[in-house]
Amino acid sequence: MENLILDCDPGHDDAVAILLAAGNPQLNLLGITTVAGNQTLEKVTRNALAVCAKAGIRVPVAAGAERPLVREQLIAGEIHGASGLDGPVLPEPAFDLDPRPAAQFIVDTVMTQPAGTVHLVPIGPLTNIALAMRLEPRLVSRVKSVVLMGGAVGVYGRTPVTEFNIQADPEAAAAVFEAGWPITMVPLDLTYQALATDEVLARIGAEGGELGTFVVEMLTFFGNQYRKERGLPAAPVHDPCAVAKLIDPAVFTSRPAFVAVELTGTWTWGQTVTDYRGQLGRPHNAEVADRLDTVRFWDLVTDAIVHLHNS
Ligand code: BDR
Ligand code: CA
Repeated sequence: MENLILDCDPGHDDAVAILLAAGNPQLNLLGITTVAGNQTLEKVTRNALAVCAKAGIRVPVAAGAERPLVREQLIAGEIHGASGLDGPVLPEPAFDLDPRPAAQFIVDTVMTQPAGTVHLVPIGPLTNIALAMRLEPRLVSRVKSVVLMGGAVGVYGRTPVTEFNIQADPEAAAAVFEAGWPITMVPLDLTYQALATDEVLARIGAEGGELGTFVVEMLTFFGNQYRKERGLPAAPVHDPCAVAKLIDPAVFTSRPAFVAVELTGTWTWGQTVTDYRGQLGRPHNAEVADRLDTVRFWDLVTDAIVHLHNS
């Protein structure tokens, strides 16, 4: 059983990550924290609660940072819509937020669990994680690992060289990569392999009942946006790839690298610079995901949805 805190900005793929984290019996989801990213904090927090209500998930949800550490706020309305989760009808929240700010929730949870037993899985901008590190520097030696969705090695994302989660708060991302804890980075290069094809959607719809229909409605909207905005053939369902690693380490392969975040380039700020070959003379600070086993991945996602639907 792996313990995790999911730090997210739902977001269509974040919503699927919530379902995977809560619906897989090998994971113990200790809480969900939200951060401004795909939409404003208010919207993504409402969406997190709506997904929990829809799926019958009952875990603490704590709202976090309203804006990045330093920069102007970026949102991704062109991909996720005005609500941040356009497509399906969203239910009303079924419970109240945890009263603590996300960073405090993360610190309290990690520091009260035995050392080395909690994974952090950030799948939005890294603001809450950087704030939690500042609040409690011992956090870094206490967590088991950080498995983050973010960055791009060689594919096109929000700009020709950047990926949204890192560019939305590059100073926070730089702090996380520099901290010295075990990091797995799940970049766009990996998540562009997690395409919600027509076959994938048909299976989720057929097996997942009402919750499956909700997921299909979400991913249909998401896929249309990606076709329009990025020319992809279907929706890349980024965020659950990070969660899947904790369930089945064989779901993707990775290679060690030194990863730095560009903070000053005129055209490149927010880029992740991934050095596999030691050309920059720095020690490796991350495992960088490179090849996804798509069959294993979609089995995990579908099984979690079916499990939640049946429970
Ligand atoms: C990342 O950005 C967001 O739009 C998605 O939820 C994902 O976390 C992909 O670049
Ligand atoms: Ca996200």
